[in-house]
Amino acid sequence: MKTVVVYKSMSGFTKKYAEWIAQELSADLSEAKKIDNDKLQKYDTIIYGGSLHAGGISGVNLIKKNLKRLKGKNIIIFTTGASPSKESTVSEIRERNFSVDEQIRFYYFRGGFDFNKLDLMNKVLMTLFKWVIQLKRDKTADEKGMLASYSKPVDFTRKENIRELLEYVRSLK
Ligand SMILES: Cc1cc2nc3c(=O)[nH]c(=O)nc-3n(C[C@H](O)[C@H](O)[C@H](O)COP(=O)(O)O)c2cc1C
Repeated sequence: MKTVVVYKSMSGFTKKYAEWIAQELSADLSEAKKIDNDKLQKYDTIIYGGSLHAGGISGVNLIKKNLKRLKGKNIIIFTTGASPSKESTVSEIRERNFSVDEQIRFYYFRGGFDFNKLDLMNKVLMTLFKWVIQLKRDKTADEKGMLASYSKPVDFTRKENIRELLEYVRSLK
């Protein structure tokens, strides 16, 4: 079974998970901008990873817009975000990004946050977000952690997070 791991990553957290997955499955690895539908056709299993931006999975349209042409293939999507992995958050992200009839296996892995590695537009967006949190009177522990991470990058990536995804892909015939 031919497998590819495709990723879109700005500060490296999604890339790290994509590399771990590709290595464990002896799969091909490609940046999203270097692959298109024709190249995806070579594979039986496509694993796509993109970081979470305001609840949306970056670059996931590469897969979504080609779903009809990818019919019959195993499609697995993962996203990484700065927030802790909670069941409610994960189902919210799933519902927001995919319709119920889309047969997509979905995983959320906690990534990290490194303000200095963002491009200008995302620096501006995240600065606005920081101001919004700062203005809140009762901040949650996660919001306090998020504020602290602007001056000190945080990395929550853990290789063991990909175990379930690996087991699922290995179980496919
Ligand atoms: C504009 C912007 C919006 C973000 N929105 C979310 C979000 O809604 N939920 C979340 O958990 N993390 C959010 N993050 C954090 C990133 O998803 C997180 O840092 C991710 O691990 C980055 O992965 P990358 O280095 O592969 O790009 C956001 C980051 C940026 C820059």
